[in-house]
Amino acid sequence: MMIWVNGGLRAADAAQVSVLDHGLTVGDGIFETVKTVRGRPFALTRHLDRLTRSARGLGLPDPDHDAVRAACAAVLDANPVDMGRLRITYTGGLSPLGSDRGDAGPTLVVAVGETHRRPDTTAVITVPWTRNERGAVTGLKTTSYAENVVALARAREQDASEALFANTVGDLCEGTGSNVFVVLDGQLHTPPVSSGCLAGITRALTVEWAGAQETRLPFDVLDRADEIFLTSSLRDVQAVHRVDGRTLPGAPGPVTVKAMRVFEERAAGDLDP
Ligand SMILES: Cc1ncc(COP(=O)(O)O)c(C=O)c1O
Repeated sequence: MMIWVNGGLRAADAAQVSVLDHGLTVGDGIFETVKTVRGRPFALTRHLDRLTRSARGLGLPDPDHDAVRAACAAVLDANPVDMGRLRITYTGGLSPLGSDRGDAGPTLVVAVGETHRRPDTTAVITVPWTRNERGAVTGLKTTSYAENVVALARAREQDASEALFANTVGDLCEGTGSNVFVVLDGQLHTPPVSSGCLAGITRALTVEWAGAQETRLPFDVLDRADEIFLTSSLRDVQAVHRVDGRTLPGAPGPVTVKAMRVFEERAAGDLDP
């Protein structure tokens, strides 16, 4: 596997950053996960725009989109995969040991791994830990994902593939790496970005293409929603067939099936919507 590190491709075992990189020492970094289809990235412009928003939120220099695109293209050329998880990581770079960032400039890493189409339905759990809708990095896609690591491990223990969080006021927020939609009386709803969730790209496309409303929803809506689905770059639209002990027997239900279909059709027709 060839990985892009700070200006060039390296073999995986030679692709290195400093142990003093601020991304490693304090999680001062941002990232994007992009789906690739037969060597081409999906929705790369939206991902690069969000990378810039995240960089500005952390006070990192704006990433050079042309340079990141060139790095992505080089990595995809060097690592042919049918369906890929393209990971762009951009950190505070070489820094002192504390929370002050150094002035060496940011680190850019781009790597790709092979992945496979997700199952059409999955199980999720709820977790007691909250998303903070009022934090300094709320809504930024930072590399500080340890809370997600812990919650996802809890989900795996319960044969689920995702853990869902409420925010500090008890509203439904998002999963460790996905957004959530529910169907109530035939209407599709998803929490607003003010809930503290990431402004997911798949979420935005699903709102646009399937016509969902952004609605504040109490966490226990998961006990009564007629249908539930997740969205993310690698899941696209994925139905939920179990939440904790509750099964949703017909999953994917009719509204979800329609959203899955419209997403697949529109995405196939435009690689950079
Ligand atoms: C916390 C979180 N929420 C939501 C998402 C879904 O976002 P997207 O559709 O842009 O992949 C992700 C994606 O990786 C995420 O990490």
